[in-house]
Amino acid sequence: MADKMVNIGLLGCGTVGSGVVKILKKNQEDIAGKVDSIINVKKVLVRNLEKERPAELEGTELVAAVEDITSDPDIQVVVELMGGVEQSREYIKKALKNGKFVVTANKDLLAQHGGELFEIARENGVNIYYEASVAGGIPIIRPLKHCLAANKILRIMGIINGTTNYILTQMTFLGQSYQDALKEAQEKGFAEQDPSSDVLGKDAAYKLAILASIAFNSSVKMDSISIEGINGVTLRDIRYAEELGYKVKLLAVAEQQEEGMALRVHPTLVPNGHPLAAVSYEFNAIFVEGDAVGELMFYGRGAGEMPTGSAVVADIIEVARNINHQVDNGIQEVGYSEKPVKPLSQIESKFYTRLKALDQAGVLASLANTFGDEKVSLDMVIQKRRVEGMAEIVLVTHDIKEENFFRAIDKLKAIPSISEVSQIIRVV
Ligand SMILES: NC(=O)c1ccc[n+]([C@@H]2O[C@H](COP(=O)([O-])OP(=O)(O)OC[C@H]3O[C@@H](n4cnc5c(N)ncnc54)[C@H](OP(=O)(O)O)[C@@H]3O)[C@@H](O)[C@H]2O)c1
Repeated sequence: MADKMVNIGLLGCGTVGSGVVKILKKNQEDIAGKVDSIINVKKVLVRNLEKERPAELEGTELVAAVEDITSDPDIQVVVELMGGVEQSREYIKKALKNGKFVVTANKDLLAQHGGELFEIARENGVNIYYEASVAGGIPIIRPLKHCLAANKILRIMGIINGTTNYILTQMTFLGQSYQDALKEAQEKGFAEQDPSSDVLGKDAAYKLAILASIAFNSSVKMDSISIEGINGVTLRDIRYAEELGYKVKLLAVAEQQEEGMALRVHPTLVPNGHPLAAVSYEFNAIFVEGDAVGELMFYGRGAGEMPTGSAVVADIIEVARNINHQVDNGIQEVGYSEKPVKPLSQIESKFYTRLKALDQAGVLASLANTFGDEKVSLDMVIQKRRVEGMAEIVLVTHDIKEENFFRAIDKLKAIPSISEVSQIIRVV
């Protein structure tokens, strides 16, 4: 076994922190062989010193003050696994200013304050590693930064929120309503008691901001991303989508187009033949298209103690190797340029639309005319059943600019025989 040691300090030992200490203990010898150092968890910061901790922490000092870690000269790496934004931001700044390398899984923090933290890291000759911040155990940050660096990344399209994918899968396979599927996800621990960040699409948007910043080499701000959650998706739409040959998924999409970056998170009808349609339950997958490599897909567990711990420990190993080999600070987030953002109104999509209309002659003709006026052409139209004396019409358009489509929808709403536009979902 190696006789050198790299000391780390953990900030937080909850779900992911426990996974990290378990992996470091279980694979200690293997890891020491790979790094040529023993990785030692010297101290752990927690809120509650009395709480029971994983047995693997025996011999590790639990502390309640962050300075015990950030000011400890023996600790070279600070691993932030507390979550939240302000407190972790303050603690990470302290660590960086004291010359510590930082590993974090905190996407909320990085999406909002990554620029500031990377700058402080650079000023202090250290770096921040964050493989676990997007899609848990799936390697995606490092592949984008290293293995795909030769490419112009044209598109990233991912299922990067396990909670919403679990809910949509339960609705699809078991015919549950959105509310029942959410309740079950909460009972099984796949959704938080306050699920809003997940179901409203914010969590996926934080992760998309991180991925798009790396892929497009541009600092992507949260307000550049159009966000729509799954809370409006009904079982009825999932059933119609099935009949049309699609699955409904919450997709995070980033494209590099001529006019700028097109960035959005929204429920999407994905054709059954597309690999993302087969990604079910809490699994995540990220589809990447590079100009040289073509299409790639990364698939696996996007959360959980051990999968997320796997990504965090890989980062710790990389830092430890850099320290041992006196590689200054690994790859820095340098040279981010400001790239224009293409507004949602200018992005082209296909649209699934469900509406209610009076069951009378001429309704379909006025629908087709209104769409035609805005150059919206229709790919599929079905009239399935009567609902409360009204006909329910479902249609899918061909690709059309959002602004044209929504102008046509506003005109449709003004037609007396159209009583309601009940649902609109984008289609890939
Ligand atoms: N869970 C996942 O599957 C997953 C996946 C990817 C990324 N992440 C990210 O990983 C991070 C950690 O998530 P988690 O699920 O492990 O959280 P968690 O289970 O809630 O654990 C948080 C830990 O941080 C400690 N803590 C929180 N606030 C603190 C404070 N102000 N001072 C000292 N200690 C504090 C808690 O101490 P006590 O134990 O004393 O309460 C607890 O040990 C988050 O940024 C999350 O977004 C999680």
